Amino acid sequence: MTTSQLPRIAIYPGSFDPLTNGHVDIIERGARIFDSIIVAILGNVEKTPLFSEKERVEILRNVFKGHANVQVETFSGLLVDYAQLKKASVIVRGLRAVSDFEYEFQMALMNRHLAPGIETVFMMPAEQYTYISSRLIKEVFTLGGEVTGLVPPIVEEKLRGKQKAKK
Ligand code: PNS
Repeated sequence: MTTSQLPRIAIYPGSFDPLTNGHVDIIERGARIFDSIIVAILGNVEKTPLFSEKERVEILRNVFKGHANVQVETFSGLLVDYAQLKKASVIVRGLRAVSDFEYEFQMALMNRHLAPGIETVFMMPAEQYTYISSRLIKEVFTLGGEVTGLVPPIVEEKLRGKQKAKK
C-alpha cells in the first residue's frame, strides 16, 4: 500500500471548554476532507475547566453521534505523541483572525520540530463564527448574555444546568 492509499487520519485537538459552533464548523469541514477526524480533548487543562473531561466528551459525542468518521477521544501529554499513537498525519487547527496566528504559528512549528512527519492544516470557520471563543462564551453566559446560535443546544442546556446548580 502506498502512502496515498493509506487512510488520511486527522487530529483536531483542543480544550473544548465548551464546544462552540465554530469548533463544530471546523470538525464538519475536516470530516469532509479527511478519511477520519479524531477530536482530541485535552484532559489535563491548566486552569480548572468549567466542564469536566467527562462532560466535554459527553457533549462532543452527543453532537457528532451521526458522523461515522468523527471520533471523540481524550489525551494528555504531547499532542504529537498522541497523533503518532493514533497514526494521524495531520493536525487540524482553526484560524479565526490574525490574532490567532502567532500562537498557532508557534505551535505548528514546535509540533513540526517534534514530529516532522505530521503536518498542521489550518482551516477557517464560516464568517459568522469568527468572533466566537470558548472563553467569551463562558464570560457572556455567566454575565447573563445570550449565547443561542453560538454553541450547540446541548452546550446551552449544560450551561443552564451549571447556573441552576450554583443558585
Ligand atoms: O483549545 P486550545 O486550548 O487552544 O488547544 C490547545 C492544545 C490542546 C492544542 C495545546 O495546548 C496542546 O497541544 N497541548 C498538548 C501539549 C503539547 O503537545 N504541547 C506542545 C504544543 S506545541
